[in-house]
Amino acid sequence: MAKIIDGKAISAAIRQEISAEVEKIKQEKGVVPGLAVIIVGEDPASQVYVRNKKKDCDETGINSIVHALPENTTEEELLALVHKLNNDDSVHGIIVQLPLPKHLDSDLIINNIDVNKDVDAFHPYNVGKIMIGDYELLPCTPAGVMALLERSNIEVSGKNCVVIGRSNIVGKPQAMMLLHKNGTVTVCHSKTKNLDEICRSADILVVAIGRAKYVTGDMIKEGAVVIDVGMCRDENGKLCGDVDYESAEKKASYITPVPGGVGPMTRVMLLQNTLSAAKKKLK
Ligand code: GUN
Repeated sequence: MAKIIDGKAISAAIRQEISAEVEKIKQEKGVVPGLAVIIVGEDPASQVYVRNKKKDCDETGINSIVHALPENTTEEELLALVHKLNNDDSVHGIIVQLPLPKHLDSDLIINNIDVNKDVDAFHPYNVGKIMIGDYELLPCTPAGVMALLERSNIEVSGKNCVVIGRSNIVGKPQAMMLLHKNGTVTVCHSKTKNLDEICRSADILVVAIGRAKYVTGDMIKEGAVVIDVGMCRDENGKLCGDVDYESAEKKASYITPVPGGVGPMTRVMLLQNTLSAAKKKLK
């Protein structure tokens, strides 16, 4: 039976460390780290995410300002707000919640965020820094996965790491981060041949494809570390991951549950990035 990597407990520990650092900066420098969150329209999932981000900030002492704009906001209006926040010294991090309504060009908006305030690390400048391995801001989900590995004392160096999924937000940066830790990295996707076989070669398997229970125990090497980034619904509407937990935990040495694995880490990494951005500005 696999050991459970408890993302809830690990994220709570990191949250405490962040709270302590936020308090220290307040006391010593008189500065409160600030996160601005922009949401356009009424997408219900986005509203939940934004509410959670605000709650997370409140609990760690980070100042958060939510800018809720109507669905019919124009590109000019949104860009004007982004530029205003870029120039606001009390704002250290800026997030534009995605997806944006169809009439707004997400790439254009993201490209206008100050790279030092880009706490999602979605700006091409920060994406490029990830390639080089010289980074302060990392996309929250893959950074959360790396923190889970590190805090569980799982060595990456020399291991066969298989990432399933090649999104710009998770799969690609995840592969780079594992590579920087000296893993031997294979990235799989929908056109990959022999996926099962490649999975079975993994010492560390990161699954981020958004397909409920896609990876089953027979695709996992005995003793592998299995990280499930998925957030899906099963046939009964119950929350589940991309990995079939029941069969996988019989093979894995370590496994992340869904919920309570990667999800809480993604949330805490946004706080970490906001703190990093604030600290960099104080340097
Ligand atoms: N929508 C869903 N996840 C995210 C995220 O991590 N950042 C932003 N900006 N939008 C999202």
